[in-house]
Amino acid sequence: MDISVEQGGIQQTAADCVIVNLFEGVRKPAGATGAVDKALGGRIQELIALGDCQGEMGKTTLLHTFGAIPAPRVLVVGLGAREDFDLQAARNAAARAIKKAGEIGCKRVATIVHGGGIGGLDLEDAAQAVVEASMLESYRMPRQASEEEPSKRVDELLIVEFNPDHIPAIERGAGRGRIIAESVMMARDLAATPSNIATPTFIAEAARQMANEVGLHCRILEREDMEALGMNILLAVAKGSDEPPKFVILEHNRERADELDTVVFVGKGVTFDTGGYSLKVANPGMVWKMKYDMTGAADVIAALRAAALLDTPLHVVGLAPLCENMISGRAQKPGDVYRGMTGKTMEVISTDAEGRMILADALAYAGQYENARAVIDLATLTGAISIALGPKAAGLFTEDEALRDRLLAAAEATGERLWPMPMYEEYMEDIKSDFADVKNSTSPAKYQGVSTSAKFLQHFTEGYPWAHLDIANMAWAQKARPLYPKGATAFGVRLLVQFLRDWGEQGA
Ligand code: BES
Ligand code: MN
Ligand code: ZN
Repeated sequence: MDISVEQGGIQQTAADCVIVNLFEGVRKPAGATGAVDKALGGRIQELIALGDCQGEMGKTTLLHTFGAIPAPRVLVVGLGAREDFDLQAARNAAARAIKKAGEIGCKRVATIVHGGGIGGLDLEDAAQAVVEASMLESYRMPRQASEEEPSKRVDELLIVEFNPDHIPAIERGAGRGRIIAESVMMARDLAATPSNIATPTFIAEAARQMANEVGLHCRILEREDMEALGMNILLAVAKGSDEPPKFVILEHNRERADELDTVVFVGKGVTFDTGGYSLKVANPGMVWKMKYDMTGAADVIAALRAAALLDTPLHVVGLAPLCENMISGRAQKPGDVYRGMTGKTMEVISTDAEGRMILADALAYAGQYENARAVIDLATLTGAISIALGPKAAGLFTEDEALRDRLLAAAEATGERLWPMPMYEEYMEDIKSDFADVKNSTSPAKYQGVSTSAKFLQHFTEGYPWAHLDIANMAWAQKARPLYPKGATAFGVRLLVQFLRDWGEQGA
């Protein structure tokens, strides 16, 4: 989607459709909506009086203009009650409006910045919200079909603002929004691409190419490099596959690592999860969607892209361990014991608890960044988080209160919700092993599955503040929500970018 910002009156803009808005309870619209109403001879007020246009949150009313203004259509989108209005409401309104405009076949659409006027939002943030929402709502997953699907989406979005003094802030916000949305879409594309194409090698190459384009430092560890580092827990998962594992290391501001705060992101990158010898049942366990078991890795790669393009004043490191969880004569087996990079050992109870295994060595590697102020991992780690929370909020696990508060603030600001989960010491009892330091699952695994997984990870974190986000319930939308069409969501990218922004602005 092309984004541009224009100064002018939206009632004069040439487009397939112009989008204006209305708060609940407003009888006589002002501002841009008022200007369009006036140009239409009071038609919007008539619809309000009729009760057909009430400003309910996200509800759209379509008007045809029959030559009264250059655009043949006007969409009035409801912003809901003024006292409830916030950035999330602006995003929802923008998403609902662009979706409707796409459905009725509009290609070139003009909109105002919702909440920029009487809404009272910061104009730059509001413009960012409108662009992010419009782009992310219009996202379609890549297809390898021989025929193009008829596209029902808007190609061109003009953001129109009457006051020339407001243009610079809107341009800054729209620019940020575009960078962030494009990063999210990169992660969605990777997550949605089938695992026969999106192999560890493919994803590592995509990361390398992106790094070259945006100026990130990139290093990719091969199997031999990981062997030399003693990452035997990670390598155990990769053993069953013919696809070689890769370990992507992206760095933003590497040359200023000494003077800037270091933040490390780690993402689970299992390109397909069969379960290994602890094979998943065919349904609903091992479904085609298990290709998205690398969403954490994709999110981290995408967040690093955004950090580079937004010139974040921090040293940001992204670690993406990538491998495939398969079966073969070389594959790991239940009962195997492996010693990882920290020197600690673990016993395999389930080869299907592979995510925590690859993260164990990635978190050990994160310990190499001596002045890391925060290490945050993202993983589609457990089915149990879905049972606990449903597709409403990702699970947040941390014992660091400051880090928890920062993450919750970023979640609140972006609408990518997190919910704190317990890290009681008792969970550790359940993963004590008779043969090694820890085991990768309780048996049976049915209960306590979420927190024992976090406790397992914690065992391999040393010397830095750490938080774990279980995004298994959020990474693939079964049902469309505003900003998240059905399918790969790349949940977490916007959250991480906001986290970096707040840290960059507020400091440690
Ligand atoms: N990738 C899965 C978790 C998952 C399940 C993600 C459903 C998305 C949707 C993970 O590797 C896994 O298999 N977890 C097991 C752990 C168990 C064996 C301890 C699970 O949750 O069942
Ligand atoms: Mn698994
Ligand atoms: Zn998995």
